[in-house]
Amino acid sequence: MNNAFRKLFATAALLVAACAAQAQSYPARSITWVVPFAAGGPTDALARDIADKVARPLGQAIIIDNQPGAGGTLGSGKTARANADGYTFLVGHMGYMGAAPALYKKLSYDPAKDFEPVFRFPDTPLVLLVPKNSPHKTAADLIAYAKQNPGKLNFGNAGPGSTSHLIAALFASKAGIQITQVPYKGAAPAMNDLIAGQVDAMFDQTNTALPQLAGGRIAPLALTSTQRMAQFPNVPTLSETALPGFEAATWYGLYAPKGTPKDVVQKVYRAYVSAAGDKAWIRKMSELGIQPLSDNAVTPEALKRHTLSEVDKWRQVATEAKLTLD
Ligand code: MLT
Repeated sequence: MNNAFRKLFATAALLVAACAAQAQSYPARSITWVVPFAAGGPTDALARDIADKVARPLGQAIIIDNQPGAGGTLGSGKTARANADGYTFLVGHMGYMGAAPALYKKLSYDPAKDFEPVFRFPDTPLVLLVPKNSPHKTAADLIAYAKQNPGKLNFGNAGPGSTSHLIAALFASKAGIQITQVPYKGAAPAMNDLIAGQVDAMFDQTNTALPQLAGGRIAPLALTSTQRMAQFPNVPTLSETALPGFEAATWYGLYAPKGTPKDVVQKVYRAYVSAAGDKAWIRKMSELGIQPLSDNAVTPEALKRHTLSEVDKWRQVATEAKLTLD
């Protein structure tokens, strides 16, 4: 073996050893998960639940960094440009990692090209909510009122392209009504105004709607799931009451900036898989209406396929439903 080749071989061996050592030592410090909505909303709540579970097998703290704005696209763009060193991740969801390319003319990132998918979270159905003293007692009431009063109903949402915005827009499109969308920096501030009666309705994920419903400050009209849920006694689905076939759930996933080492991605994914098998945690998620996915739907490859198919799907949905960012 000549000298040059020997040096090349030695350098390559050192590089492999260094990567292996890094993988062994990862994580050497706390990790940041960016949640691009205000604290207290469903994305934040679910992210904190899961971060708490994943931190244990990783042996390092996972810090939630709320970076709200523009329906989650501000924080997403910043995370796409973060160091790809395994210490910054994005908690993504169907809005800013699925629908956003169809809705935003200028998006500072590409959900499919600028990230490494890590694992998919469980899905969360939503519930149509009104203030406690709302005159609208059913989804059919709400739709009938909106047909008589186009544009009069204010729906709170978490910003342009957020789940609460998208599902309300699809609801209006399917029901043939006009609503007015009122954007906030997350579902939590929107919920505060729903409770105060400042907005007439909003769609929220079940994990944050349930505690508010328990407090008796809001009322549920209908679920976006295909089946009724024991956690929502006597609450029908939209599909059975007002909009046959209407179904929606928020999907989520953890993403790392493009270029994050594959062995780091695998280590975080495996930490989730080991934690998500905890029966007490599965029960807690189920009590919040959150539905676990099959193991093969949670992998990095499955999340990549899902992201690509969702970006394609929302291009069609946005066109058919004439979804725009008002
Ligand atoms: C959304 O409506 O897209 C988000 O779930 C809002 C939030 O989590 O705050």
